[in-house]
Amino acid sequence: MRNIVLFGPPGAGKGTQSEFLVNHYGLVHLSTGDVFRFNIKNGTQLGKLAQSYMDQGKLVPDEVTISMLKAEVEKSPEAKGFIFDGFPRTTAQAEALDAFLSERDDSIEAMVALEVPEDELKSRLLARAETSGRADDADPDVIQNRINVYNAETAPVADFYRVAGKFKAVNGLGTIEEITERLVEAIDA
Ligand code: AP5
Ligand code: MG
Repeated sequence: MRNIVLFGPPGAGKGTQSEFLVNHYGLVHLSTGDVFRFNIKNGTQLGKLAQSYMDQGKLVPDEVTISMLKAEVEKSPEAKGFIFDGFPRTTAQAEALDAFLSERDDSIEAMVALEVPEDELKSRLLARAETSGRADDADPDVIQNRINVYNAETAPVADFYRVAGKFKAVNGLGTIEEITERLVEAIDA
C-alpha cells in the first residue's frame, strides 16, 4: 500500500492538492475534517460532539478522532493506499496510526508538508469564508486559534516522521499546478 500523510497548517492547500494526488496515484482521500463536517451536516452524535470543538478552532479529542479514522480506513478494504489529510494532528494520533497500520502489515510511506507563511494562510481562509459556509473560516479569532493550535500541538508531529526519515517539506506558495508538481516530485523521490 501507498500511504501518504499530507501535512500543513489550516489553509495550506491540503484539500486542494489531495484532489490531484488521489487521481495521480489512485489512492483514497481521507480528510478527518471532511468526515467531521459530513457528520455535522447529518446531525449524528459524532457531529454534535465535534462541532463544539471545530467552531472554536480546537482539536476534537484524540480518542474520538482515532476511532473514527480507523473506521474510515476499514470502509475501503480495496484501497491501494490513502492520502491522510488533516490526520495525524497530534503525536498520540501519529503513534496510533503507526500501530493500526502495522497490525495490517502496512505503514506510512512519507509525510509531505506544505509550507505557507501565516499571512497567506489567513488571507486564503478569510477569502474562502465568503463561500465555504465554514464557521471556523468566518471569524479571524477562530482562524488565529486554529493556527495557534497547529503550532502548539500539530507542528511537532513532523518530528515523528523526521526521525523515521519520512519527512519531506514542500513550498506551498505558487499556483496549484506548480505545487502539485512539487508534491509529486517529493513523493516519487
Ligand atoms: P480541517 O478540515 O482539516 O481544516 P484545516 O486543517 O484547518 O485546514 P483547511 O481544510 O481549512 O485547509 P487545507 O489545508 O485543506 O487548505 P485548502 O485546500 O482547503 O479541520 C477542521 C477542524 O476539524 C479542526 O480545526 C479540528 O477541530 C477538526 N479536526 C480535523 N482533523 C482533526 C484531527 N486529526 N484531530 C482533531 N481534530 C481534527 O485551501 C484553503 C483555501 O486556499 C481554499 O480556498 C483554496 O482554494 C485556497 N488555495 C489552495 N491552494 C492555493 C494556492 N496555491 N494559492 C492560492 N490559494 C490557494
Ligand atoms: Mg482541508
